Amino acid sequence: MKIGIIGAGMVGSAAAFSCVMRGAASRIVLVDLDKARARAEAEDIAHAVPFAHAVQIDAGEYDDLSGAKVVILACGVSQKPGETRLQLLERNATVFRSVVGDVMRVCPEAILLVASNPVDVMGQITQRLSGLPPERVIGSGTILDTARFRWLVGRHLGIAPSSVHGYVLGEHGDSEVLAWSSARVGSTSVAGFAAQIGSPITQDVRAKIDTGVRRAAYTIIEGKGATWYGIGAGLSRIVSAIASDEQAVLTVSTVSNVLGVPDVACSVPRVVGANGVSAELLPDLSDQETEALRASAELLKTTVEQVSI
Ligand code: LAC
Repeated sequence: MKIGIIGAGMVGSAAAFSCVMRGAASRIVLVDLDKARARAEAEDIAHAVPFAHAVQIDAGEYDDLSGAKVVILACGVSQKPGETRLQLLERNATVFRSVVGDVMRVCPEAILLVASNPVDVMGQITQRLSGLPPERVIGSGTILDTARFRWLVGRHLGIAPSSVHGYVLGEHGDSEVLAWSSARVGSTSVAGFAAQIGSPITQDVRAKIDTGVRRAAYTIIEGKGATWYGIGAGLSRIVSAIASDEQAVLTVSTVSNVLGVPDVACSVPRVVGANGVSAELLPDLSDQETEALRASAELLKTTVEQVSI
């Protein structure tokens, strides 16, 4: 499967590298205004191919995207230390107004996978600019936050993160909702298993994990200026679900009606396959979680309505 990646910065390049290591695509075209950077990233990543999967990766122009099944939009600016994702909005909306048109000109059949922040709003802007059906414009959303949640709960319990079934919902940002009440280890509640092994999820443990998920990006950005490995792996996970028509349940962001809030892009568990998103699976939530998710959706709805598209 051929994919394109617009933006050969840290996120786009990490996504390309992760797709090579996972074998999620057979052909990758990296596009960036900085052509030297795109060429250098493509060549550097190509040197990982012999250790991984037979992927052809090159730098290219928009016209080279023809035939791509997925185009990752990882262009624009990223958060500065202390900056919220929503504060990036106007700068990245300006970038997308030209990028989306160029992509649609060359590969109108592609699924658009949005990574640029604020990813939920950028995904909704992309859906409107492209005119594609919502199911073919996917924001990475809280796939990364869900991974962080599973990593931290797994570390507390001594369980592999892949065996922790918990979701982060809503905005990929400060208003996100950790769905503790439906979190499971195997088919046992996280709270029940934690108590069973003598590592109860106390209020303090819960608060530390919540902060560890919600503030992860800020903390990492303070230390190294940006995040890229986690989001790169999350993007390649979505690409692989599309490539293999996996029908995988992933927390991704597409435009839908969430808890009565219409026409808003935010994350709930959704089924992802060759044609994009095919279904939603809202988990059972506590009243508090339901209200928090509705508030997160309403925040995103209010935000996107402020953008002239
Ligand atoms: C983060 C960026 C991708 O959460 O928003 O690391």
